[in-house]
Amino acid sequence: MDGQSCYRFTRAIARTPGDSCVDGLRNQESGAPDPDRFRNQHRVYLDVLVRAGVDVTVLPPDEDFPDSVFVEDTALCLPEGAVVLRPGAPSRRGETAAIEPVLQQHFDGEVRFLPPDGQVDGGDVLVTEREVLIGVSSRTSAAGASSLKTILEHWGYPTRITHSPGSVLHLKSDCASLGCGIVLSTPRLVASGLFEEYLVIQVAEGEDAAANALRVNDTIIMAEGYGQTAEALDALALPIEQVPNSEAARLDGGLSCMSLRF
Ligand code: GLY
Repeated sequence: MDGQSCYRFTRAIARTPGDSCVDGLRNQESGAPDPDRFRNQHRVYLDVLVRAGVDVTVLPPDEDFPDSVFVEDTALCLPEGAVVLRPGAPSRRGETAAIEPVLQQHFDGEVRFLPPDGQVDGGDVLVTEREVLIGVSSRTSAAGASSLKTILEHWGYPTRITHSPGSVLHLKSDCASLGCGIVLSTPRLVASGLFEEYLVIQVAEGEDAAANALRVNDTIIMAEGYGQTAEALDALALPIEQVPNSEAARLDGGLSCMSLRF
């Protein structure tokens, strides 16, 4: 494994939210996202990715798939190759058909497919500089996690299968890999013992939603409104970009979910 490949990126794929995002899946009813506000916030997010040094391919809205803005769930991209995944929610299964040709066009490497006997959402896969963690969840099945592990180990990645916290959608709803052996995590995930081998920065009390941050090259990208966690991240001495995320959050979406980075 290359020690920087979990945060060094030159390219990304994203998809603009469509009007149908109002029908996106959500665990709790905090109101549907406002499509125009969502698109404005998405533009801010894309601008930050570009400022962080990434060339972003922006796909048009796909109104047939209300959650299709969350492209990360459709594939996993690593230097050794990409895996087209099988999102666990039936309403999202068809999203991969549109992503595969985009990957074939823009990703310089082998593109594989998760075997059809299991499901994995990309949001349940955390890549650090030393291993890949796959969280079994309501979206990621044990069979899917096992198939993905086989592919990743073939590429030389130590891979651990764990469980995503039951109270959130994905493993990465509660954590982020910041490189250099450092993870950002909620206290509940730290308490599970998952990160015993890491330096952990815990999100501040009441700021669990800040855990889905992103390191892109030398920039930390986090949702705005979590001042104490932002202060804790200052210790890394990296530029921090805070972006509005209220509309994605209405669909349980975070910052990592809205791009595929490679
Ligand atoms: N709303 C994002 C998802 O449930 O997959």
